[in-house]
Amino acid sequence: MLSVDNFRYLHSEVTEWRRYLHRHPELDYRLHTTASFVMEKLASFGINHIETGIAETGIVALIHGEGGDGPTIGLRADMDALPILEASNKPWSSETPGKMHGCGHDGHTAMLLGAAKYLARRRKFRGCVALIFQPAEEVLPSGAKRMVHEGVMDRFGISQIFGMHNSPGLEIGRFAIGHGPTLASLDDFDLVVTGKGGHAANPSQTIDPIVIAAQIVVGLQTLVSRNTNPLEALVISITKLNAGTAYNIIPGSAEMGGTVRTFSSELRTFAEQQILALAQGVARGFGGGVEFKYRRDCPVTFNHPEGTHLAVQAARTLVGSESVDDKMKPRMGSEDFAYMLEARPGAYILLGNGPTASLHNPEYDFNDEALPYGIGYWANLVETALAV
Ligand code: NI
Repeated sequence: MLSVDNFRYLHSEVTEWRRYLHRHPELDYRLHTTASFVMEKLASFGINHIETGIAETGIVALIHGEGGDGPTIGLRADMDALPILEASNKPWSSETPGKMHGCGHDGHTAMLLGAAKYLARRRKFRGCVALIFQPAEEVLPSGAKRMVHEGVMDRFGISQIFGMHNSPGLEIGRFAIGHGPTLASLDDFDLVVTGKGGHAANPSQTIDPIVIAAQIVVGLQTLVSRNTNPLEALVISITKLNAGTAYNIIPGSAEMGGTVRTFSSELRTFAEQQILALAQGVARGFGGGVEFKYRRDCPVTFNHPEGTHLAVQAARTLVGSESVDDKMKPRMGSEDFAYMLEARPGAYILLGNGPTASLHNPEYDFNDEALPYGIGYWANLVETALAV
């Protein structure tokens, strides 16, 4: 088990890889340049079990330890960029206007490659490591979900799974991790209020869907404030409201959309049922109706006890106990790695990115100073979880 100084020899090389990936951002599942780059690097480390084309451009590479038989653990990096016009003004800025690595997945990919190079040479562990390079973290349908559906966990016999994300605002060389629910689930819904359109001068001859929609928006606020336990987090936000085409027409319908975030599966079910019940009740009271579509997009990112313990141990060895916050409060954001943690136990950790612009901001850039910490974390995690 090693401190971060043991990984500094990889720093300049991995920085070059990171900046190459940053200059060539690609979106969703169309990561052909990125995937070729990853494959080429993995092969150059002498890794001979590499499977490509999983969930289109996803890659899984296996490294066997020299410490004898043991389980296989999965380490996951996401690879996709965002449809944002970059404004970081860095010399390695995106060469494709309108696409940028605005979430640091270039750094995540480079760090897992750095760990691959280290692990493939040292192999001081038992069992096997599955390096998972995932497409489409930022879009639906999610790349993590597809990789799980395409059988990645079973096919490679993965028994535990680990993820990492950079965190702007958290100092370089620091880690943060929570126990249990760490990031919220993400669901979306569409709600169409149906009424009866007509002349705006004669509202009594219509069923005005705009008035009904307005009542529903107000009514939905009470599901959180009056119907759920104040100690349990639930967000229900209406984020879209569209109706009407002219000043003198009452439209026949109004369309609404929104999002639901929570840490509990019971509250997801509650939200799905109660949004519909409330909307139907309100609409019927006014003589209208509703059409409702609820989509469960991303589950709660749940850190399991054993995986969290291993992650904390690996980070502490690397940077010291005082630099690892193992009591991170849950955050309302969400992450499709949750699908992998639903399929297998494990943990998701945050890595300090220093005082950079926030994620998804046009001025954001992954901080290359974080690279040896991320590489060292992966290496220590493997040598801890699969100790000889
Ligand atoms: Ni991200």
